[in-house]
Amino acid sequence: MSMRVILVFFFMATLALAQDNVSVLDTKGNPLKRGEEYYIKPAITDNGGRFTLINRNNTCPLDVGLENTDLPDGYPVTFTPFAMEDDVVKINRDFKVSFSVFTICAQSTEWRVGQNDTSIGRRFITTGQDGSREWGNYFKIVETQLEGIYNIGWCPTEVCPTCRFICGTAGAFTENGKILLALDGSVLPVEFHKK
Ligand SMILES: *[C@@H]1O[C@H](CO)[C@@H](O)[C@H](O)[C@H]1NC(C)=O
Ligand SMILES: *[C@@H]1O[C@H](CO)[C@@H](O)[C@H](O)[C@H]1NC(C)=O
Ligand SMILES: *[C@@H]1O[C@H](CO)[C@@H](O)[C@H](O)[C@H]1NC(C)=O
Repeated sequence: MSMRVILVFFFMATLALAQDNVSVLDTKGNPLKRGEEYYIKPAITDNGGRFTLINRNNTCPLDVGLENTDLPDGYPVTFTPFAMEDDVVKINRDFKVSFSVFTICAQSTEWRVGQNDTSIGRRFITTGQDGSREWGNYFKIVETQLEGIYNIGWCPTEVCPTCRFICGTAGAFTENGKILLALDGSVLPVEFHKK
C-alpha cells in the first residue's frame, strides 16, 4: 500500500471513531448526562408540547406521547446509556429512557417498542420492561442537519450486534385527539431541555 492509501485509511478510521463518540446536546449546548432530567419537545412549534405519558386505550401500560399544547406540562425523562463507561448520551448509541414520575400502572415508565399495530402499520412506543427481549427498551438518538435537533430511533445493534432488526425512527401519530409516538411513519425532530 502506498503511503497515501494508508493515510486515507487512517483518516477514515479516525473519522469513524470520532463520529462514534459525539455527545447529544441539550438546548444550552451541554451534553445530555446519564441520570439527569430533561424535557423532550418538538423542535418545530405547533407540533405539540412536551413528551408525556398518554393513555391510548384506557388500560395499563401507558404510552409515550406529547402534550397537545406548548404549556409547561409533561414529564421529564432520564437516560441510561447501554455502555457502562458512558456518563453522557452519544449519537447512535443505545440507551434506555424512562419518565421521572410514578404512575398507577404496575409497569415501569421505561420506554418500549410495542407490537406492530397492523391496522395502522406502525409500532407505537409504550412503556414497561421488555422481559426476555430486553432490546425492546433500547433507543438511539440520530443527528439531523441542524445542531441541537435530533430524531429518536430504535435499532439496538449495540445490545444485540447479531440481531437483524427492522429499525425505525419515531414520529407523531394523532388518534382521537391524542398525540402518540410511533415508529414507521412521519419523523419528529426534537430537542432536549434540561429540567
Ligand atoms: C470520547 O469522548 C470523551 C469526552 O466526551 C473523551 O474523554 C474520550 O477520550 C473519547 N474517546 C474516544 C475513543 O475518542
Ligand atoms: C387501542 O385503541 C386503538 C384505537 O382506539 C385500537 O385500534 C387498538 O386496537 C387498541 N389496542 C388494544 C391493544 O386494545
Ligand atoms: C406492520 O404491519 C403492516 C401491515 O401488516 C406491514 O405492512 C408492516 O411491514 C409491518 N411493520 C413491521 C415493522 O413489521
